[in-house]
Amino acid sequence: MSLNGGAIFLLGLMAFYGVVTEATPVKFGNCSDVTEHISAMTVDVTPCSTTPCEFKKGTNVTCTISFTPTEEVSNGTLKVYGKLGPVKVPFPLPNPNACSDHGLTCPLKSGVPVELTITLPVKSEYPSVTVVAQFELEDQSNNDVFCFQVIVKIVDAYENVEA
Ligand SMILES: *[C@@H]1O[C@H](CO)[C@@H](O)[C@H](O)[C@H]1NC(C)=O
Ligand SMILES: *[C@@H]1O[C@H](CO)[C@@H](O)[C@H](O)[C@H]1NC(C)=O
Ligand SMILES: *[C@@H]1O[C@H](CO)[C@@H](O)[C@H](O)[C@H]1NC(C)=O
Repeated sequence: MSLNGGAIFLLGLMAFYGVVTEATPVKFGNCSDVTEHISAMTVDVTPCSTTPCEFKKGTNVTCTISFTPTEEVSNGTLKVYGKLGPVKVPFPLPNPNACSDHGLTCPLKSGVPVELTITLPVKSEYPSVTVVAQFELEDQSNNDVFCFQVIVKIVDAYENVEA
């Protein structure tokens, strides 16, 4: 097994802050600390049958986000973080360019509903912890188009025997 720098940083932070065991309400929708440029949004996370969402290591999780931008988006960058207290640890995405391979045709027009799909690989080297995952789409000026949070529990896959 190989660990990348991000995974080691994540492990270190989790050791420092401890595992978040307290159930925090799932918050699909606005993040309190950012200004958004959408008029409506729905989020579907698959698989996620219960709260918190269980993300199995070695699988892909798919998030389908329907939203209507209130400003034109000519280019966008997707960001996913695990939030540990005040610290945001990036989850690396295979393709952070929102305008390529995510089901969008850029530029997005103001007032026109669109649907975006994110495939998130749950890496086997991630620690088994519960975190607040924050998903953001930043536009060409680094403004947030949308932001939402979901409580995620990272778990071992049944078939994986981990050392
Ligand atoms: C986010 O906040 C704005 C402004 O308060 C509101 O109009 C919008 O409906 C909210 N979006 C969601 C998904 O809750
Ligand atoms: C996850 O998605 C990636 C990229 O689409 C693909 O290469 C990989 O095989 C998928 N893994 C699983 C377990 O489905
Ligand atoms: C669009 O954003 C991506 C990152 O998400 C960047 O790699 C690309 O260069 C940008 N394209 C333009 C035309 O600015």
